[in-house]
Parts: sequence; C-alpha cells; structure tokens
Amino acid sequence: MIQLVHKSVAAAVLLLVLLHVQPARARRKTLCFQSNDSDRSIYDFSLMDIHKEHMVNLSRYSNQYLALSALQRDLKNFQVLGFPCNQFGKQEPGANGTEILNTLKYVRPGNGFEPAFDMFEKIEVNGQDEHPLYSYLKAYCPPVQEAFNTEGPGIYYKPYKNSDVRWNFEKFLINKMGVPVLRYHTGYLPEDIRKDIEDLLAEREIDPFTFF
Ligand SMILES: *[C@@H]1O[C@H](CO)[C@@H](O)[C@H](O)[C@H]1NC(C)=O
Ligand SMILES: *[C@@H]1O[C@H](CO)[C@@H](O)[C@H](O)[C@H]1NC(C)=O
Ligand SMILES: *[C@@H]1O[C@H](CO)[C@@H](O)[C@H](O)[C@H]1NC(C)=O
Repeated sequence: MIQLVHKSVAAAVLLLVLLHVQPARARRKTLCFQSNDSDRSIYDFSLMDIHKEHMVNLSRYSNQYLALSALQRDLKNFQVLGFPCNQFGKQEPGANGTEILNTLKYVRPGNGFEPAFDMFEKIEVNGQDEHPLYSYLKAYCPPVQEAFNTEGPGIYYKPYKNSDVRWNFEKFLINKMGVPVLRYHTGYLPEDIRKDIEDLLAEREIDPFTFF
C-alpha cells in the first residue's frame, strides 16, 4: 500500500517534470541577429489588409501619433498638445485643419485614426517666422542634439540656430504651472517619457540622467 502511494507520487512528480519541461521547450525564444540601426525593418514592407481592399505600408506603425494617443488615453491630469509644422521633410503639407486631419485619418497613420489629443493650427517652430511659443520653449530648454545637417534635404527654414527643434516629434514636457521641465529628442517615443510624466504628476523628483 505504502509502495503504491510512493509509486503514484513518483508518477505524479514525473508528470509534473514532463509538463514543466515540455512546454518550456515548445516556448523557446531566440534572439534575433539584426541590429537596431540596420537599413531594413518591417517598415519597408507593404501588405494587403485582411479584406484585401487596400495596401498597408507597415511604416504607419512606426508613427508616433498612435503612441501619443495611447499615452493621452492612459494618463489622467495630463494633456498632449500637437503643433503641426511643415519645416522638416515637408511632412505636414496639409493646407488647413481639414486636410491635416484627413491625412491622419486616411493616410498616415490612416485606418480611421483620430488623435485623442488636441491639435493646433500649423505653425513654424524655427527660423524667421517661428512662433513665440517655440521661442519661449527653446530659450529655456537646451537643444537635444549637438549637430544637424543643414546641407542635407529636409530642413525648410532659415536662419539656423543651435537651439532649433531638430525634427518632427521633438517633445517638451510642461508642468502644471505651465513651465517646461524636459525636452526630448525625436527618438524618445511617447512610451519612453511615460515615467517622467508620472513622476511629474506625482510630484516626485525627476532625475534627468535616467533618460540618457
Ligand atoms: C536596441 O535598442 C534597445 C532599445 O532602445 C536597446 O535597449 C538595445 O541596447 C539596442 N541594441 C543594440 C544592439 O543597439
Ligand atoms: C513604406 O513607407 C515608407 C515611408 O514612407 C517608404 O520609405 C517605403 O518605400 C514604403 N514601402 C513600400 C513597400 O511601399
Ligand atoms: C482646405 O484646403 C483644401 C485644399 O486647398 C480646400 O479644398 C478646402 O476647401 C480647404 N478647407 C477649408 C475648410 O478651408
């Protein structure tokens, strides 16, 4: 009798071990070789949507509009403000609000996208006709990149200044007094700045060196 119990315990243990080992083998994950700065990415591919009605360029999923909307929906007492600008790569050619919003809705990101945050009129953020709001922000927040290529394509303003916004989706984090606290390079995705926003909302101290 005792032996029987032992056997069934042993069988149970064996089963557990098998159950444990088998799924672990099946669920193996492997590290991919490609580096972050590769020339190729999924954003180079286009595929038909599930109804085979239109082509979807996967680069739309690299668009920060989606992540900014997600951040806006997630965080209370926080507001994203979007300022369209056509000075970088002429990426915001829309003639007016209707055109800009329709481009977001049907082209990029497309798929019926409507920003969950407030958008303002198109302005210039650098150069001769830069908006005073951006003169103010840039006066108090150092530039987020040392260099920029004024010879290359994509920069549509003059004169150039070191304090200039370098590209679309550069971001400023403003506190509830309306004063800028942090400035972020384009490469900081909305999700990357979530912690700073939460710290600011909770009135915790922000350590600027955590984001380098
Ligand atoms: C790739 O990017 C991720 C996220 O920014 C970073 O943690 C990782 O170290 C990078 N890897 C390489 C090889 O540069
Ligand atoms: C997808 O869009 C990107 C960025 O606009 C573009 O560079 C790329 O050529 C497009 N790819 C295809 C397959 O259309
Ligand atoms: C917006 O611009 C487009 C293209 O120039 C024009 O057809 C349309 O009437 C404009 N809409 C408004 C509301 O001004």
